[in-house]
Amino acid sequence: MKRSITSRLAGFYKRPPEGRLVLLREMGAASVEAFEHLARGGGLPVALADRMSENVLATHALPLSVGLNFLVNGRDVLVPMAVEEPSVVAAASNAAKMVRGAGGFKGEADAPVMTAQIQLDDVPDPASAAARVLEHRERILALGDASIPRMVSRGGGCRDLEARVLDDALGVLVFHVHVDVGDCMGANTVDTVAEAIAPAIHAITGGTMGLRILTNLTLRRRVRVSAEVRDEEVGGAEIAQGIARASRFAELDVFRAVTHNKGFMNGLDAVAVALGQDFRAIEAGAHAFASMSGKYRPLSTWKRAPGGLVGEAELPLAVGTVGGSVNAHPGVRAALELLGVESAAELSVVMASVGLASNLAALRALAGEGIQRGHMRLHERKRELPSVPPAAMTAAREEAT
Ligand code: MEV
Repeated sequence: MKRSITSRLAGFYKRPPEGRLVLLREMGAASVEAFEHLARGGGLPVALADRMSENVLATHALPLSVGLNFLVNGRDVLVPMAVEEPSVVAAASNAAKMVRGAGGFKGEADAPVMTAQIQLDDVPDPASAAARVLEHRERILALGDASIPRMVSRGGGCRDLEARVLDDALGVLVFHVHVDVGDCMGANTVDTVAEAIAPAIHAITGGTMGLRILTNLTLRRRVRVSAEVRDEEVGGAEIAQGIARASRFAELDVFRAVTHNKGFMNGLDAVAVALGQDFRAIEAGAHAFASMSGKYRPLSTWKRAPGGLVGEAELPLAVGTVGGSVNAHPGVRAALELLGVESAAELSVVMASVGLASNLAALRALAGEGIQRGHMRLHERKRELPSVPPAAMTAAREEAT
């Protein structure tokens, strides 16, 4: 059920954390259980953490914030963000406010298709072996479907099989199986399919069986977002021109492109962490995609348009709203409720929008007053934080030994 909430919350930042929770609770932005969890300080009970990982000692916390002003495909969204770096949340919220005036972020995601690879070595005549396997495509995909019956009953399942000869002389042949994984991130699902169909493929090709594992370059699961912003929102035509020049700089130069993309991922990763997503997979896929043309390129661009700028971004994004830590972690469940998305596709559009917002905020600061002034104001607050006195740490260590 879509809730009717606003993400325009004037003076939100001036309230203490409890006051922010009160406001969101009054809006009905999440369930009573979610607010109870957040009011207790959020986080993860150690007993649960102990079931999620190994050799657990305690839990490791980050600030959980909410990004404001986001209008995504016509819907107001409150965006949970977990990040240690000051100014990421404020900057993204600021940029979202600028974009809002011109209609907000628009985006769409591909069907949630994940891909696994099956490697075979020493295959005699790999091109004709590939062709023979593809003659059995339907039977092999049916074998794959039989290994994931629950996913198939939910509308997912195997969609396609492809072959790639990587080295003719060495007989290195790789198959890609493409699987619709619904609203899951889908790593386990595609790995299961790859292991289930590999023997049937091997029986046709001969050679030596190699890896059976997903690729994190999920080219069939991409998200595209765009946004417009008017000159007056960014501080005038000169700054808008500066933003477009900064974007072009990233298109021309790998040293700049990587920092540009880091700024884009600042916002996207913060949402990924808040929502318990596999941010290592996301990062690996994003940077491989950025290099697909043979040259490392920006994931997003800002170009001049009459009276403003148009921003666009595209990247592979494998995220889930069910399964994994989404079900296990109470903080992730609360964050998902706050965000209010109904599908993994919707989540990926929000995440890419937050990336584009972070990128706009960074380029605007760099093209205007420079990153240090605004950024550093927020860093100042961090400097005021108490640090754990080393003496206390030593005493604790001594006590423990
Ligand atoms: C800092 O976390 C991110 C920036 O370096 C991004 C950029 O330069 O575009 C400000």
